[in-house]
Amino acid sequence: MTLLECGSLTPFWSVELRQGTFNLGYDPEIPLGMTPSNPLALIAELTHRCPLHCVYCSNPLELQARRDELSTEAWSRVLREAASVGVLQADFTGGEPLARPDLVDLVRAARAAGLYVSLITSGMPLDEARLDALVEAGLDHIQLSFQGAREEAGNEISGTKAHAQKLRVLEWLRKRRVAVTLNFVIHRHNIDQIEEMLALAESSSTTRVEFANVQYYGWAFANREQLLPTRAQLDRSLEVLKRTEERLRGKIRVEFIAPDYYAKYPKACMGGWGRKLMLIAPNGDALPCHAARVIPSLTFENVRNCSLPEIWESSDAFQKFRGEEWMQEPCRSCDRRALDFGGCRCQALLLAGDAAATDPVCSLSPLRPKVDAILAGVNASAPTEIASRPDWLYRPNPA
Ligand code: SF4
Ligand code: FES
Repeated sequence: MTLLECGSLTPFWSVELRQGTFNLGYDPEIPLGMTPSNPLALIAELTHRCPLHCVYCSNPLELQARRDELSTEAWSRVLREAASVGVLQADFTGGEPLARPDLVDLVRAARAAGLYVSLITSGMPLDEARLDALVEAGLDHIQLSFQGAREEAGNEISGTKAHAQKLRVLEWLRKRRVAVTLNFVIHRHNIDQIEEMLALAESSSTTRVEFANVQYYGWAFANREQLLPTRAQLDRSLEVLKRTEERLRGKIRVEFIAPDYYAKYPKACMGGWGRKLMLIAPNGDALPCHAARVIPSLTFENVRNCSLPEIWESSDAFQKFRGEEWMQEPCRSCDRRALDFGGCRCQALLLAGDAAATDPVCSLSPLRPKVDAILAGVNASAPTEIASRPDWLYRPNPA
């Protein structure tokens, strides 16, 4: 499924992927202009294969084939190297990581390396015996994704009959000793279901719920105009969350990741480029973020040929947007540059055609009118029922 979250039992920090956003904020211990001493989390994209076809998938448009995936041994070495370079947490994601038959072995390898192990999953394909094997192997946390609170709409968005299986997995998790996060990817067609989503969470063993508005990369970028909520929808959802705050306090931690097209300033994507996170693609390419392939000037080292510490410290891709030398105005002289690092490099490429530009969602960007024009179009029409949707561009499965 999409991305990651550290669980509430042993949280280091909050990381959200998927959709591909990493909202870690500014860590004052890592000065902006310096190479961080070590990455904190390794995002292991085990495969691009997935039984779901979500219209907002953050995987690249060019998916990698099964034959190109790293072997069990190669992943195990990568996990050991990650621990040796200071990584604390392994986040198994995809595609759908459960599509890897060796997932239990990989969880065991991550745990043996001393890592906190998190699984970001749609819950398909899974049965109780495999869930037990994963927990026994050392799984610390599961982030289970839902496409919504209602079956029909959820199945429509994922292009698969998946909702009933997710409810089954949620029930199984009630009896397992593993931290659970429920992840709802929020968009125009389910943002009005937030109360129902909260009710689902309250009826389960989860202690953390994440409402992650779609971030517009990959397949979501292609379906953007059909996914962006209206301003009125966004305001209503925030009112709902405010109303429930008191009731849920001390029971369920709720996080809402706003659609940054509506924000005044951009997110600190990935907690800053090459500062805290490494992503390993299914074929072993090491990326600073899940969408980095959209930036044509970047080349990526591969863990088959290069060690993780070498890649982290000196690969061109990780160096490219570290520090602030690369920044243009208005970021270069902006006093928020150590807070948001100029926003998202991939979004800058997609919206401005220049990965070094100020993220156009920033209100100080000269290109902000472009984002406002997109929102004006989205707000000009009322949200439609899922049944009357125009055709989605569904994510296919790789070979
Ligand atoms: Fe952030 Fe750049 Fe906007 Fe300043 S101008 S708020 S640094 S994106
Ligand atoms: Fe934000 Fe790539 S997704 S930097």
